[in-house]
Amino acid sequence: DLSSGRLYQKVNFPVGVAVEPEALYNLPPYSNIVQGQYNSITAETIMKPEHLHPFEGVYFWGEADSLARYCEANNKRLHGHTLIWHQQLPQWIINFEGDRAAWDALLKDHVQTIVTHFRGQVSGWDVVNEAFNDDGTMRSTVWHEHLGSSYIEKAFRYAREADPDAKLFYNDYSLALNPKKRRAVMTLLTDLRAKGVPIDGIGMQGHIFIGFPEVSEFVNTMNEIWRSGFSVHVSELDVSMNPFGREMPQASETDLNRQANVILQIFQAYRQVPSQFQYGITFWGVGDADSWIRSYFARDDYPLMFDDQYRAKPAYCKLLEHL
Ligand code: XIL
Repeated sequence: DLSSGRLYQKVNFPVGVAVEPEALYNLPPYSNIVQGQYNSITAETIMKPEHLHPFEGVYFWGEADSLARYCEANNKRLHGHTLIWHQQLPQWIINFEGDRAAWDALLKDHVQTIVTHFRGQVSGWDVVNEAFNDDGTMRSTVWHEHLGSSYIEKAFRYAREADPDAKLFYNDYSLALNPKKRRAVMTLLTDLRAKGVPIDGIGMQGHIFIGFPEVSEFVNTMNEIWRSGFSVHVSELDVSMNPFGREMPQASETDLNRQANVILQIFQAYRQVPSQFQYGITFWGVGDADSWIRSYFARDDYPLMFDDQYRAKPAYCKLLEHL
């Protein structure tokens, strides 16, 4: 029953959702669900480099400013995703030709212009997203190619200079599933922070499947993060149920209930995180039909809390019932 239960009121940490603004503004029940069930908002695409900084020297604030105004008017936190990433970059950055100093200036201008613009409106930023490969080596991106591994430290320091208050996150996927990647991320971030780089937290994206990683591995990773002194954000949670991409015209009751149990266990475990290290749990989309999983991986799947008609699924009902 979406009219009474408010998911975010069931726990003492922010419960967020990634949104596309055009749907948010004019599409009930989508907009009603976002309004009623979540108190933190992440832009699924419109605060990424290609949207905010489409041409050299040209920033486009329109859509993101509207989303920021929506958040302010509805007393919701806005989480900034993402400043430095290797995907959804504008072509001009991909093609940019310059020496190290020129790339450093580009990075600084990009980060500081955006962070300054949203200062006081964005509570936390995914400053750097997905900088590591699955084998634990650093991903070769335009940033790494032109600035070496120092681009990560630079991004965090420039962001902090522009906003003394926003929480600054490193965000990545498969941190629970992949010990090699997790070790590489934790080693680098711990070393950087030890030398004064302002890294407040780690976003574990949480694009998981029913059954893997085991919930215990996910929870152990969550605990390793905060015990290392970093706030932990489950930043992009979805729980897929079709790993082999089979024809799946609908989700089975069994899978829907297993999905509900996985999500409930994650919420119950996250409740145990000391409050100073809680940043929240954010779902990567509202309804199954909105999920990037279906389009990006071109497969049938039912990874979110609301079904194709935006009806509450067992995962939502179980949280309302048991939290
Ligand atoms: C995805 C969006 O959901 C898609 O709409 C877009 O086409 C590609 O990016 N990790 C991230 C997110 O940090 O930015 C990605 O979002 C999903 C994987």
